[in-house]
Amino acid sequence: MSRIPVGVLGATGAVGQRFVQLLEDHPWFEVRELVASDRSAGKPYRQAATWRLAGEPPAEAAGIVVSGLGDPLRSPLLFSGLDSSVAGEAETDLSSRGHAVISNSKNHRPDPDVPLLIPEINPDHLASIEAQKRRTGGGYIVTNPNCSVVGLAMALAPLHRAFGIEAVTVVTLQALSGAGYPGVASLDIADNVVPYIGGGEEEKIETEPLKILGTWDGQAFADAPMSISASVHRVDVVDGHTMAAFVNLAKKASPEEARKKLACFRGEPQERELPSAPRRPIHLLEEDNRPQPRLDRDRERGMAVSVGRVRGDRRYDLRLEALVHNTIRGAAGAAILNAELLHARGLLPGRP
Ligand SMILES: NC(=O)c1ccc[n+]([C@@H]2O[C@H](COP(=O)([O-])OP(=O)(O)OC[C@H]3O[C@@H](n4cnc5c(N)ncnc54)[C@H](OP(=O)(O)O)[C@@H]3O)[C@@H](O)[C@H]2O)c1
Repeated sequence: MSRIPVGVLGATGAVGQRFVQLLEDHPWFEVRELVASDRSAGKPYRQAATWRLAGEPPAEAAGIVVSGLGDPLRSPLLFSGLDSSVAGEAETDLSSRGHAVISNSKNHRPDPDVPLLIPEINPDHLASIEAQKRRTGGGYIVTNPNCSVVGLAMALAPLHRAFGIEAVTVVTLQALSGAGYPGVASLDIADNVVPYIGGGEEEKIETEPLKILGTWDGQAFADAPMSISASVHRVDVVDGHTMAAFVNLAKKASPEEARKKLACFRGEPQERELPSAPRRPIHLLEEDNRPQPRLDRDRERGMAVSVGRVRGDRRYDLRLEALVHNTIRGAAGAAILNAELLHARGLLPGRP
């Protein structure tokens, strides 16, 4: 079977390199086009991208000459790891030219007809792309959440379905790679914790899960009726965002009941056995001192979220810890799983 040609926008960046790495030898998708800024355009990828992941850049990508953002693209499916300063306009333009744009950037996540997708949680939100297609004539945008939100929403979804969530307080400990390259200066972060992340990080964590756990009624999204308060920190960890969440439920549940719901959580990617789907999207850990980024971020090739220390509390109903690999399940891997679900449902467009 011939593979579907795909392009990667922002291919030289931290997320773009993960796309290129994860798409190597993908059974359904083949990287044909790589796009970055004018600083990189016109150069072969191996020269344009300073490769910062382990090993070499994949051979199928290394020789591709990088395009600029304005150049015409032929791939029906485009993955975007563009800087948010340019992503909004570029993704709108490309979707209006008939491409399916699967984006990591924050720009279109709140749009009224753009799904903010985690395939295990809200695959029904894909119905909203029909509204986009009527607007654009064929192309559309699908977004994946902020990197911390993937971990938080995955841990909350089974609890929300079973017991209803009223309120969450979350404290995050976020890895350095979440800021792209070069990120925080080494002398600012070594031996240190920085209690601030720019770009509206706390607001994203407080709002995006409401859309993901909410509903699409055929016309509009309605937020899940819960409140989230977040306090974020940058820590001296390379990959893997950890978060401590305190949860109040509408219907009371014991930690044991919560653990059962978390452990058996599965979704459409698992039913369809999508190529990038983890067998178990949530790994429930029983040890007192887990999850830990170094030990748990790579579970199921970085696609599983780890949840541990599910316990009671004096003020809240439950406390738990969650961990997500921020550039895999929190970014490029999430977008690839979104595209796999679109392909499995027959929703990818033909060549524009
Ligand atoms: N890092 C994470 O964990 C993470 C997780 C989830 C979402 N995100 C989001 O994903 C996006 C990329 O993040 P990142 O960490 O990969 O950033 P990054 O390392 O700074 O990479 C940014 C990419 O955008 C390209 N770019 C910048 N300005 C451009 C322009 N004017 N025209 C065309 N291309 C341009 C860069 O190309 P050049 O190399 O040519 O400059 C590079 O390929 C951001 O929107 C970010 O918020 C990141």
